[in-house]
Amino acid sequence: MIWNKQEQLYEGKAKKVFATQDPQVVIVSYKDDATAFDGTKKGTIQGKGAINNQMSNHLMSQLEQAGVPTHLVEELNERETAVKRVSIVPLEVIVRNRSAGSFSKRYGVEEGIVFDAPTVEFSYKNDDLHDPLINDYHAVALKLATWDEIDTIKNYAFQVNDFLKHTLAQCGVILVDFKLEFGKLADGTIVLADEISPDTCRFWDSETGEKLDKDRFRRDLGNVEGAYQEMSRRLLGK
Ligand code: TMP
Ligand code: ASP
Repeated sequence: MIWNKQEQLYEGKAKKVFATQDPQVVIVSYKDDATAFDGTKKGTIQGKGAINNQMSNHLMSQLEQAGVPTHLVEELNERETAVKRVSIVPLEVIVRNRSAGSFSKRYGVEEGIVFDAPTVEFSYKNDDLHDPLINDYHAVALKLATWDEIDTIKNYAFQVNDFLKHTLAQCGVILVDFKLEFGKLADGTIVLADEISPDTCRFWDSETGEKLDKDRFRRDLGNVEGAYQEMSRRLLGK
């Protein structure tokens, strides 16, 4: 299928979205731009767009086969992919296997504590409010999602965790935590959307504990590009 790139519909912090000739399909174009802390920290991570695009597609096509529906239609080139048009459920869905980041900060615990079972939490996607933590009841009260949708989203999120944890373990990587976003198709079907990449996950080397994700940018740890390239090498073999 040839997807004609038409007008730009949206530009986010890490991606642009373009219309196509099919109203149900859009093209996402991954940028090398990186932001953190609500966009207050800005930078460029050379090669990030291409790596995130290809890594996300690689993982989503495997998830699709494992029974998690996704927005993926077809990779078009290094940094562009045709995806199903969705309306994004305005919740960031965060799954954690170990303490880190905002969890450690909020509860005053060190990073790296292994949980007996994974946790799930939601943030309300709203830049003006700085994506506040929100519980299921509040999400339903605000009509961000229905109880059925929340149930579906949680089930998919844990399925994604099981798959990712296993896949990464084979590459010598610990999956600490990650953020997912889900979308709704025109008929209401919930599908996994956005991306799965070092921008949206915490990856630690299983042997050394070295961080191989966007925390290197957020925390000024250096060798940011190297971490993305290393994850690309381990997961995509390039
Ligand atoms: P947190 O510990 O800062 O809440 O982050 C949890 C996970 O979510 C981590 O893997 C990074 C990811 N994340 C995003 O993808 N986007 C965001 O805006 C934030 C704050 C975190
Ligand atoms: N992408 C988010 C922002 O700019 C934050 C993050 O990933 O840390 O603000």
